[in-house]
Amino acid sequence: MGANTEIFMQITENFIKIDTPRTSLIFRRYDELLETIFYGAKVADAQNYDILSSHKHKYSHSCIDDIIAANTTFSCYGMGCDRKFSLSLKNFDGGYANNFLFRRAQAAEKPEIPGLPSSYGARETLMLVYYDETYDIELRQYYSVFDDTDVIAVSTCLENKSPHDAFIRSMASCQLDTDGYGYEIFSYTGTWARERYCSRTLLNVGVFEQGTVRGSSSHAVNPFIMLKRPARMGGYYAFNLVYSGNHKECVESTAMHSTRITIGMGDCCLELPLQAGKAFHSPEAVMLFGENRQNISLQMHRFVNRHIIRPQFLKERPVAVNIWEACRFDFDRSKILRFAGRAAEIGAELLVIDDGWFGNRNDEKTSLGDWTDNVSKTGGLETLAEEIRKKGLQFGIWMEPEMISPESDLMRSHPEYVLQNPRRRPILMRNQYVLDLTRKEVQDYIYGCIERLMELCSPDYIKWDYNRVITDAYHSSDLAGDAYSLAYMKALYALFEKILRKYPNLLIESCAAGGGRFDLGMLCYTPQIWTSDMTDAVERVHIQEGTLTGYPQSAMSAHIASEICEKTGRRIRLRDRFALALEGVFGIEYDITRCGAAELSELKEYVSFYKEHRGLLLYGDYFLAESDENGEAAVRTVVSADKEEAVAEIFKRKQIFNCEQNKYRLSGLNDDFVYKIQIYGMETQFTAQGKLLNSYGLELDKYFPKDRSGVYSNEINTLVLLLKRVQGQNSEGNYF
Ligand code: GLA
Repeated sequence: MGANTEIFMQITENFIKIDTPRTSLIFRRYDELLETIFYGAKVADAQNYDILSSHKHKYSHSCIDDIIAANTTFSCYGMGCDRKFSLSLKNFDGGYANNFLFRRAQAAEKPEIPGLPSSYGARETLMLVYYDETYDIELRQYYSVFDDTDVIAVSTCLENKSPHDAFIRSMASCQLDTDGYGYEIFSYTGTWARERYCSRTLLNVGVFEQGTVRGSSSHAVNPFIMLKRPARMGGYYAFNLVYSGNHKECVESTAMHSTRITIGMGDCCLELPLQAGKAFHSPEAVMLFGENRQNISLQMHRFVNRHIIRPQFLKERPVAVNIWEACRFDFDRSKILRFAGRAAEIGAELLVIDDGWFGNRNDEKTSLGDWTDNVSKTGGLETLAEEIRKKGLQFGIWMEPEMISPESDLMRSHPEYVLQNPRRRPILMRNQYVLDLTRKEVQDYIYGCIERLMELCSPDYIKWDYNRVITDAYHSSDLAGDAYSLAYMKALYALFEKILRKYPNLLIESCAAGGGRFDLGMLCYTPQIWTSDMTDAVERVHIQEGTLTGYPQSAMSAHIASEICEKTGRRIRLRDRFALALEGVFGIEYDITRCGAAELSELKEYVSFYKEHRGLLLYGDYFLAESDENGEAAVRTVVSADKEEAVAEIFKRKQIFNCEQNKYRLSGLNDDFVYKIQIYGMETQFTAQGKLLNSYGLELDKYFPKDRSGVYSNEINTLVLLLKRVQGQNSEGNYF
């Protein structure tokens, strides 16, 4: 135990309580099981917590009648429970019924999960041990708490101690049984270029289930999920999974007024052998209670920044200029160098060559797998990288290592590398196949390509793309039976481990046709993720709000793109595109070689503003003052931990005519501080008290700039406010 002597865990004969800084989770011993009797705001230690739940011996005619409805920490067929199970096994004799009884609870080391990433830096870990005597299988659950966030990391391990093989048919990492029904479920759903739109479902009695079978966490539904507890209970729960493959989130509410939430790997095509004498450890899930949405985001962000993202990347990330949206496949060395020149001029720090630098890749149809320098385009990467560096920039490059084009040297020499069932023709998507990453020779091939590229031009940054989904999962005979999606993910994680072991400071930005693999598993290796191929600032208001609910600004890449968005046809002013890019890892992705002097100097100012406030913008506390869901305006603030400074952004989507009041409230400021507020890009400054800003808001409509002909933008109008605490009684402004 560290210098902090606070105890996070209480284990007595009848109760087990674990605390986070501001929440408690309490279990009660119930016959030979454990009941979850409380998960909410922190409660003081006591000898007896019966007052929190009257469930025990409700029916009292038999224990099993009680257990059927009890709130347990896991569930499976064979124990009387008739709700969705967190665990489903096929035992060696073909039976599906198990009976895991509680054996003990104890403090433990936080386990490493074989082959899978998990959070680091936990303060204490509780281990619950259950045992099924009939089949000689032990079930262990781990709950880890942290000093500085209320997130609890949970994982489940099954150990088959018998001489017989069994099969896991499904296994959640975490089950939370709680009271009440009528939860409102916030899920983050979408599709390509429309990722993580918040979608809300009110669940009364019934089942809500979401997940993916695409082999990746997917554009369709993110593993992050948030639940608003019924009004009479108050508060929110949130969950996520440290995993990038198929996942499943399930919420079931019953007429008995209880709700079960299970979070874990997806079970599509799953038949996971639990061999005699072997153990299987689930991916790690995370769960969180917070009194409001705001707190959920704050705590999740803190968790991701301090316990998921590797410490070497917790720093100010470089401002990138990426050439993709400007050039697609059409570039050569001199064009790249023109971009680099401009990038250096405006103060950017990293030049990224995207798709098209390798093999014969001049469109989407060829060359994935052939990671050799196309010298006719680059003029030689080695010297190109040098020239870029001479301009004071870092050098970055795009790869899509998990894929293969049918038209490629790799396909000609190793058609067997394609992921496929030998009896079926694999499905072609985006003109490409997936490599069978579970094969050792494929892993070695990819690693070799990366090593060669590093030797050639030692990129500081790699954009690691993944542009299709897995449709042909197949258990090849040497796979030792692991379910494919899981085996694939383990192989990918092992590859990242190996790369980062050799190049620990290599900044990898993950990407999957935009934000199709935006999850905690990837963030364990790649500290930032390309949020979406949708670079229209209006669309980004929503995509970024959804993303920021569960993930920190430091994880979310956001670039200023072209004035007219190719996808939506919207024309958006530079200042508004800048305001949206400011919310994440800032970059620029349009043709800056064509900008005139005025535009360049505007860009230069924006880059310098971002650089000046980057620490705050990336790692400050994020507050959603007003959600874009109302369709009128979104207001978000990022506030320093000491509340001395903040950046607030207002994204106004709608002009409302003839209304008396249109005030904008900020959030997260210290009520008692007085702030000087500077509207970025204007002379206007005023002072106001934090309380006023937090609770009532300011009439700021008059500050939205009009263009030269006196009109507002049709699409979006933004304001960036810079707030700094002023000491003493300053009353120069009209709002103080
Ligand atoms: C994906 C990415 C883009 C770009 C292209 C290149 O769609 O999301 O940013 O890298 O691939 O083909």
